[in-house]
This record gives sequence, C-alpha cells and structure tokens, in this order.
Amino acid sequence: MIRKAVIPAAGFGTRFLPATKCSPKEMLPIVDTPVIQYVVEEAVASGITDILMVIGRGKRAIEEHFDRSAELEWELEAKGKLDQLRQIRRISNLANIHFVWQKQMLGLGDAIRCAEAHVGSEPFAVLLGDTLLQSTSGTPAIRQLIDAYEERRTCVVAVEEVSRERVSKYGVISGEPLAGGKIWRVDDLVEKPAPDEAPSNLAIASRYVLTPDIFATLRDVRPGKGGEIQLTDALRLLAHASPIHARVIDAIRHDVGNHLGFIKTNIIYGLLRPELRETLGAFIKETAARL
Ligand code: UTP
Repeated sequence: MIRKAVIPAAGFGTRFLPATKCSPKEMLPIVDTPVIQYVVEEAVASGITDILMVIGRGKRAIEEHFDRSAELEWELEAKGKLDQLRQIRRISNLANIHFVWQKQMLGLGDAIRCAEAHVGSEPFAVLLGDTLLQSTSGTPAIRQLIDAYEERRTCVVAVEEVSRERVSKYGVISGEPLAGGKIWRVDDLVEKPAPDEAPSNLAIASRYVLTPDIFATLRDVRPGKGGEIQLTDALRLLAHASPIHARVIDAIRHDVGNHLGFIKTNIIYGLLRPELRETLGAFIKETAARL
C-alpha cells in the first residue's frame, strides 16, 4: 500500500522570473486554482493520505494555502458565500500535509533526500509540484504508477512518448517493453540526448514511485551540472544494480513552469470549464484571426 507522497516544490523557478521572485511558481494559478492544488488532488484521488511538501525560501504561501484560514472562513460565512466557504474548507482537509525545508536548492535529487526521515522504510510517490498530468483514461497518472508498482515491486518512473525532435529536452529511458507495452523494464536513463542518439522517444514525465533504497543511492550521486544532485542520476545507478520500470502514462503533461506551458495550460483548463468554454473558445478564434 502506498500512502505517502512527496511533492518537491523548493526550486527557484528562474524560468518564470520576475513572477517567482517572491511567490512560488507552484502557486501560479491555472484558471483559479494553484498548480500545486491540482497536484495534491491527483495524489488524493490516487489513495494517498499523507503528503510531504519540500519547500524553501519564499514558499510560505504554499503552507498558508493548505492551512485553515479562520478569518476568511468567518467572512465568507457572514456574507452567505457558502459555496466558496465549502471550497476553502475542503482545501485544508484534503490530506495530512507536512512540510520540510530544503536549505539549499541543490537539485531534485537533494529535494528527495530531504524526505528520508519522513518517508522511512516505505515506498512512496513523487509528484513534481509544477507539472500537471491530465489523465486520458480516467485513472490519475500517479495511480497508474502505483498500480505498476504493485505489479512489479520496483521503482517506477512515468514516461510519455515525445517526438524525436523533442527528446533532447528531456531525460529518456532505454529498455524493453513488457507484455502489453505499457510497462517497460528500464536498463538506462539518458539525460537530454541528441535526437539521433536517443535510445527511445520515451521521456521521463514528472511522476515517480520510489522505493526507500533511493536514499542510499542518492548518497552516492556526484553533483552534476550547476552542482545539482539529479534524481535521474540516482535512478540510473539503481537501474544498473537492480530492476526498475517505467509506465507509459495515459495522460498529457503540462509543464507550468515555463511561459508557453503556463499559457497553454490555462487555455486548456479554461476550455474544460463549462462556464468558460463557449466565450473563451470564441475569443481565441476571433483573436487568432485578428492578430
Ligand atoms: P525544475 O527543474 O523546474 O527547477 O524543478 P526549478 O529551479 O524549480 O525551475 P527553473 O528551471 O529554475 O525555472 C522541478 C521541480 O523540482 C523542484 C521544483 O520546485 C519543481 O517543482 N525542485 C527543484 C526542488 O524542490 N528543489 C530543487 O533544488 C530543484
């Protein structure tokens, strides 16, 4: 049973400056809801009951978002805004949410190391706090990985198919598909390969199920580019020593931490809202024709 999740949300978010100078990129709104709330909801819908967020300087807004706000609740109640009151109360009751501070932003691998004391000896889910995975099968993306973990009992990384020209932007796996083709046995992971050298077009997609032996492996990882400890490097060490797997997820990835990703995600999630769909759709068509 996987019941714990870790959400790394401590990064500087330099691609989204100046907005991220003093507000976390994980709090950027998609329509009216911060990215990280969608991520928490994905975890909760997948059976996770305990969430550890890794945060750093300037990230207090994340703590406050998931805490109760008695003053706001009182104000909404007094004004009879009961729908909003329900929404606000729901956020603070979504799961048991804990926080740990990453003192220096030494990379995603280092952020995971900060979770060791909390996670202990259980396998756990990891969901990056700045990326949405929109399920195309009705099963939340991290649940798809948990199911794969229950079948294989090893670390599982989410992967998505990308076009050959785009592989150089991502970490890519090499390995063999198992029967059915959704789960792959992973032999190696290659960070940002040239298109003609990429071992596959399956790119690592911001969700993982990790077993606790990742912590010992992370201790052996040498800092890479910019002095950062990369999670991909630890997974590569692990894959060389023991089996790990990848799940080709039935989901579309939306990376909100870059300009184009943020704007596109807002348009898509806006179009998915029944109350916005018609007017937003008409506005986009008109504007595209006019500009
Ligand atoms: P990114 O690779 O997007 O890095 O992190 P970043 O620093 O946040 O953003 P840029 O590249 O400077 O714009 C992916 C996820 O891992 C977390 C981030 O908060 C994000 O959710 N992260 C990254 C950490 O928690 N700690 C780190 O040291 C680095």
